[in-house]
Amino acid sequence: MRNTIGWQVEGSSSTLLRTPLERRDLRPDDLAVRVDYCGVCHTDVHAVSARNGEGGRPLVPGHEFTGVVTEVGPAVTRFTVGDPVAVGNIVDSCDECAMCRAGQENFCHAFPTLTYDGIDRHDGSTTLGGYSREYVVRDRFAYPLPAGLDPAAAAPLLCAGITVWEPMHALGVGPGTRVAVAGLGGLGHLAVKIAVALGADTSVVSRSPDKANDARRLGAHGLIVSTDPEQMADARDRFDVVIDTISAPHGLGPYLRLVAVDGTLSHLGHLGTVTVETTDLLVGRKKLSSAGSGGRLATAAMLDFCAEHGITADIEVLPSTHVNEALDRLRRNEVRYRFVLDMSDLE
Ligand SMILES: NC(=O)c1ccc[n+]([C@@H]2O[C@H](COP(=O)([O-])OP(=O)(O)OC[C@H]3O[C@@H](n4cnc5c(N)ncnc54)[C@H](OP(=O)(O)O)[C@@H]3O)[C@@H](O)[C@H]2O)c1
Ligand SMILES: [Zn+2]
Ligand SMILES: [Zn+2]
Repeated sequence: MRNTIGWQVEGSSSTLLRTPLERRDLRPDDLAVRVDYCGVCHTDVHAVSARNGEGGRPLVPGHEFTGVVTEVGPAVTRFTVGDPVAVGNIVDSCDECAMCRAGQENFCHAFPTLTYDGIDRHDGSTTLGGYSREYVVRDRFAYPLPAGLDPAAAAPLLCAGITVWEPMHALGVGPGTRVAVAGLGGLGHLAVKIAVALGADTSVVSRSPDKANDARRLGAHGLIVSTDPEQMADARDRFDVVIDTISAPHGLGPYLRLVAVDGTLSHLGHLGTVTVETTDLLVGRKKLSSAGSGGRLATAAMLDFCAEHGITADIEVLPSTHVNEALDRLRRNEVRYRFVLDMSDLE
């Protein structure tokens, strides 16, 4: 085993503690990555909060990171030591099912191995995430970081970015598509940047009127205040695609009413049971969909697109020792628009 160090919650606590960790020895198709920057996703908050009072196996969050290759297994051909690299929220899949063969490893029928709190397909161990100084990953699930992308600001592309890219791509978002992004956070602000770069006519729907200037700076036409019934009524049936990135449970009715005839509400944020009034779909033949993460091909395409268009996240970099503060501030919506942990203090 290899020794590293990371930020872990143990038992029923929801405080991350600096903890020595073990990584597996490299398999033939593995590479070792020195993690330099790891984004803080709201999913990390959900995962840590779920442990509160519950206990369970140790948890090391973090599933959007960039760094440098430090060692490669003998079968690795795509990377050499010193290459800048990026890793997202999936680190393995079965390779054999119809989804894997179609390049949709994120929908692997045998379930993809998640970057943290997943089960390694070979040794059955629990995967420990990127809030650490080193990660060992199968080469297929590491991506060369395109030159020109700042490694800190690019880290959030690997979860937040791909999660909004793949559904927008699948829904054909392009020049003239009317897109609304609900919830202007980590996913939301990247959805705005990507939609604008795709040529879409983009708006933001938010409960935070003080984000209006940011929405325009990101390229949106403006911000519809979700708590203002008049503004929501004015926006009725106006959008071909509504990308919902809201991190808390919420009724879908108000967001379905923004969708135009034959348009789609893509529900990407808080996952779980939702109740839908079928008349909210019936009136206007509206579609409700969801998605998560992305396949390898889509992830590589998203990185190329972001490099070409100069898209990275708006970030606040914190030393990794501030990880608990980052999670608390994210819970309170005090982030513009993604925290990224600098792991160099874990030497
Ligand atoms: N599908 C997937 O694969 C996938 C991948 C990554 C993340 N996620 C999930 O996506 C969600 C967003 O993640 P994130 O990292 O972007 O979170 P985030 O940065 O915290 O952004 C979430 C945004 O939702 C809005 N919001 C939060 N609480 C709300 C409430 N009670 N009512 C209405 N709006 C609220 C806020 O925007 P405003 O202030 O503008 O209203 C907030 O900025 C999380 O639930 C995360 O777990 C899913
Ligand atoms: Zn995430
Ligand atoms: Zn599969």
